[in-house]
Amino acid sequence: MTLNELGRHTAEQFAKTYKRPPQWIAAAPGRVNVIGEHTDYNDGFVLPMAIERYTVIAAAPAKRGATKIQLRSPLGDGTVTVDLTQPVKPAPKGAWSNYPVGVIAGFLARGVKLGGFDALIHSTVPLGGGLSSSAALEVATATLLEAITGLKLDPVDKALLCQKAEHDYAGMPCGIMDQFISVMGKKDHLLLLDCRSRKTELVPMTDPTKALLIINTNVKHELTGGEYAKRRAQCEQAAKILSLSSLRDATADMLLRARGKMEDVVFRRARHVIGEIERTPHAAEAVRASNWPTLGQLMYASHDSLRDDYEVSCPELDAVVEIAQAIGPKGGVIGCRMTGGGFGGCAVAMVNADAVTAISDRIASEYERRTKIKPTLFVSRPAAGATLLKPAAK
Ligand code: GLA
Repeated sequence: MTLNELGRHTAEQFAKTYKRPPQWIAAAPGRVNVIGEHTDYNDGFVLPMAIERYTVIAAAPAKRGATKIQLRSPLGDGTVTVDLTQPVKPAPKGAWSNYPVGVIAGFLARGVKLGGFDALIHSTVPLGGGLSSSAALEVATATLLEAITGLKLDPVDKALLCQKAEHDYAGMPCGIMDQFISVMGKKDHLLLLDCRSRKTELVPMTDPTKALLIINTNVKHELTGGEYAKRRAQCEQAAKILSLSSLRDATADMLLRARGKMEDVVFRRARHVIGEIERTPHAAEAVRASNWPTLGQLMYASHDSLRDDYEVSCPELDAVVEIAQAIGPKGGVIGCRMTGGGFGGCAVAMVNADAVTAISDRIASEYERRTKIKPTLFVSRPAAGATLLKPAAK
């Protein structure tokens, strides 16, 4: 489904549900990270792109003077109501409404005036697939609230407001990558983001002979679980032992010298982060220079490091990467790695565009034979970040 089709579908569903057309339609994409995993909260580099999968919210004002926001999503458990006369609070952990409600709270904390409205949410970003369905929902909500309130946020500010919603409302101590790319994605470009300075650099991805293939293992992960927070704490511990404020300034030599002062697991976590921060700008350079063999090596090195040192892969992701690597450059696979937080979700492969069908068929059949799980595969061009769609003329 294209973005416009999804927009139209959401508007129709809105009209059916609320018996009037929507006044605003906001959209925000999911993302895939080409390389730079678990580096964002270490002040490192990431290289994501927005994908052609979106969360769309259609909305219209409630009756004059109304003080309730109604949110509906086919995902969920009926209507969620936010009473604007009461302090806004998170729902129990795991509730989908925490993402939009956290963003509403962020706008209210800025002192904006918000009246009641009705909203309907639809999404083509797979849930729990490591493609940032949560950031897409947060950023779509923020884009909608910008339209409703007239408060236009600076893109960095907007991404940070959404990240805060995820921390405070969803209880997930994520870094800044997902919200940044969902806000700032550019068609036909990857985004090299320096998570320390928050400076971004666009990396053109226009070569028609190359494509990014996303392979969903259909194994769900639960990042609000403790493993993510544990990794963060281990990185902080390593930085502290090295007397640094983050692992961004650490080098492999420094780490080796300090090896005796830290637990082996902390050493290995830091080794991943230091290597990955180094690999990411190299990978951006390789894409710029169409140096596909180098990009491939970097992607495989990233996966190995995430599997062995960072321990966030899983047998299903490893199976995908092994199958892709076995197909190799002769069969059109340039590189492949797990993407996102890990523990399930998706792998991403850079492939030759003319071999996409053959590669997809082979990965799907071998993966299913090995794991007894049907994967979902799709190709996406780098998409644009969050936007407002025009409601159809009445
Ligand atoms: C999740 C987080 C991101 C990032 C990745 C790992 O997607 O939301 O901030 O840390 O994991 O790279």
